[in-house]
Amino acid sequence: MNIILLGAPGAGKGTQASRISDTYKLPHISTGDIFRENIKNETPIGLLAKSYIDKGQLVPDEVTCKIVEERIAREDCKNGYMLDGFPRTIAQAEALDKITKIDLVINIDVDFSLLLDRLCGRRVCKDCGESYHISRLNGETNCSRCGGELYQRKDDNPETVQSRLDVYNAQTSPLIEYYTAKGLLFNVGGNTTPEAVFAEVSKKLDSMK
Ligand code: AP5
Ligand code: MG
Repeated sequence: MNIILLGAPGAGKGTQASRISDTYKLPHISTGDIFRENIKNETPIGLLAKSYIDKGQLVPDEVTCKIVEERIAREDCKNGYMLDGFPRTIAQAEALDKITKIDLVINIDVDFSLLLDRLCGRRVCKDCGESYHISRLNGETNCSRCGGELYQRKDDNPETVQSRLDVYNAQTSPLIEYYTAKGLLFNVGGNTTPEAVFAEVSKKLDSMK
């Protein structure tokens, strides 16, 4: 099964992706994670991506589409995969349609009033990418999944979060209509706990087996 996770910054795409990947054994492909890995390794893609990510803007479509095309062509994606944070523009969605067939688009719908706190309070594992929120960490500084050190993403500050939300509204939210028209959209309310969201998503995925 080929799945897309759609949702505003902070909606919980990464949080659900890690649960879905563990339970349904689907490779988790996050374009944001791929860019951050490239930034860490100071590759040419990383240097280019950094200039956009630090401002909360999108990396150009042609760069992002090429990365995804190469990634989903790999052996581990032959029985399915899950895209997190891609596509993010209509042009990316159209490019994806040319190279693969999508079975389901899970749209995590969250009130915008919750997103600033979620993102500014997020801590991420340096090793496995798992997301946490400081309110649930009880002072813990390491990942409960793999033991890695937790850090704060550079784009998780109020100013950059605001640009990311503006970019989402202008460029990414039209994808809801795009995938609704194709009959692929599954809406899940994301204002509740990660466990409650995952229970809804699992019900849907189990019904498609
Ligand atoms: P990316 O890394 O994809 O960031 P994003 O879309 O802004 O989304 P986030 O990762 O911030 O949020 P999330 O939905 O994964 O939330 P999470 O689960 O962590 O992209 C970063 C940048 O890379 C972009 O700005 C862009 O520049 C570039 N980029 C990436 N893809 C691109 C593309 N396709 N095209 C062009 N450029 C691209 O959760 C957030 C917080 O909330 C955590 O603290 C978590 O613990 C908490 N939380 C999660 N779920 C819940 C819940 N149900 N209840 C309470 N708290 C919750
Ligand atoms: Mg994420």
